Amino acid sequence: MAMISLYIWLSADLLSVFVHGSKIYVNGWSMTVADEVRAEEGGSAVLPCSFTHPDINLTLTGSILWYKRESRSLIFNCTYPGPDHSQGELCGNVIQRDGGNRFRFVGNLTNNDASIMMEGLSLRDASFYVCHVELNIGRIKSRIPTNLEVKAARGNVPVVRGTEGDSVTLPCIFRSWDSHTLTTVTWMRKEPYRHVITFRAQSQGTWTTVHGGNRYELIGNPEEGNASTRINQLRVRDNHTYLCLVEYKSKLNFQFYQYLIQKEVQLQVVPETFPIVILCIPLVVKLPPLLVMWIILYKQKTRYGISLADSYLQMPKA
Ligand SMILES: *[C@@H]1O[C@H](CO)[C@@H](O)[C@H](O)[C@H]1NC(C)=O
Ligand SMILES: *[C@@H]1O[C@H](CO)[C@@H](O)[C@H](O)[C@H]1NC(C)=O
Ligand SMILES: *[C@@H]1O[C@H](CO)[C@@H](O)[C@H](O)[C@H]1NC(C)=O
Ligand SMILES: *[C@@H]1O[C@H](CO)[C@@H](O)[C@H](O)[C@H]1NC(C)=O
Ligand SMILES: *[C@@H]1O[C@H](CO)[C@@H](O)[C@H](O)[C@H]1NC(C)=O
Repeated sequence: MAMISLYIWLSADLLSVFVHGSKIYVNGWSMTVADEVRAEEGGSAVLPCSFTHPDINLTLTGSILWYKRESRSLIFNCTYPGPDHSQGELCGNVIQRDGGNRFRFVGNLTNNDASIMMEGLSLRDASFYVCHVELNIGRIKSRIPTNLEVKAARGNVPVVRGTEGDSVTLPCIFRSWDSHTLTTVTWMRKEPYRHVITFRAQSQGTWTTVHGGNRYELIGNPEEGNASTRINQLRVRDNHTYLCLVEYKSKLNFQFYQYLIQKEVQLQVVPETFPIVILCIPLVVKLPPLLVMWIILYKQKTRYGISLADSYLQMPKA
């Protein structure tokens, strides 16, 4: 089998697939993976992988497999069983455990996305990982593995707390990757894995928002290793764990490479609690009229009681 490899920098469509690294072509298929991922001990790492195939109209079935290269061990295998279990619910809900690790499918076969997430990283996970897809229409594996680096963590995954309606800053501090070009900062919600916002580097060190709501503000300077982002008008449904993905690229002999730094942060949002005074306002407002009514009623009752007594007294004895 003739294997031609070629590297292409894809224009960034970051909404679902986040893969712009080394790309290989084999018999009309292609597969793109990130070249290097840097994550932290105790945190999570997304290993992106996307592919294309020539039979665009066919319903895909088959397995998505990830291997650890050194040990040649299969670390992840999930299967799309076929049209009756359409949209690959099986892969979608798969969490596989291997010791302390959790591997979770975060791709989507319909979008030709075979990415996985590794959770609870340990230093031993630093390795090269290879993405395979084995489908009803053929198979492909990435000839270029993804190099996962796991950095020793200085502490636990940071936790940020805020109250509904307030603003909070999600920290994303990293050591910048010299010799590569900083391109985007993307925030993903971890579970379920969803895109939140992407900021893209413009010329002269300015950044634009590519996709995402207007509640998010990049306030750190990513060029200095600070991609901290503010969320305004917090909502209770922002209560999630987030991944900050800082993307670098480089180009060598017309080949493009993608490098990702990934950081995890937990956001806890407390629902707004109204002060007790505000809760009491309706009562305070309603109290005087109630009091007046009660007094009137009491007086009427007493008067009625008295007049009854009077009439009783005045009643002639039989
Ligand atoms: C895929 O389906 C569309 C419409 O159903 C058709 O126009 C197109 O030619 C098909 N493509 C292939 C490669 O079969
Ligand atoms: C992956 O899992 C499927 C379904 O359980 C199984 O048929 C297949 O043999 C597995 N693949 C490998 C390489 O172990
Ligand atoms: C997978 O992608 C398809 C097409 O974009 C979409 O309709 C479907 O909802 C996605 N499935 C999941 C589980 O996100
Ligand atoms: C990151 O940037 C934010 C906003 O400018 C600042 O408040 C914070 O102190 C910076 N953090 C570090 C570690 O530099
Ligand atoms: C927010 O998330 C944490 C777990 O991260 C959970 O324990 C807590 O109950 C959640 N709070 C709300 C208001 O949903």
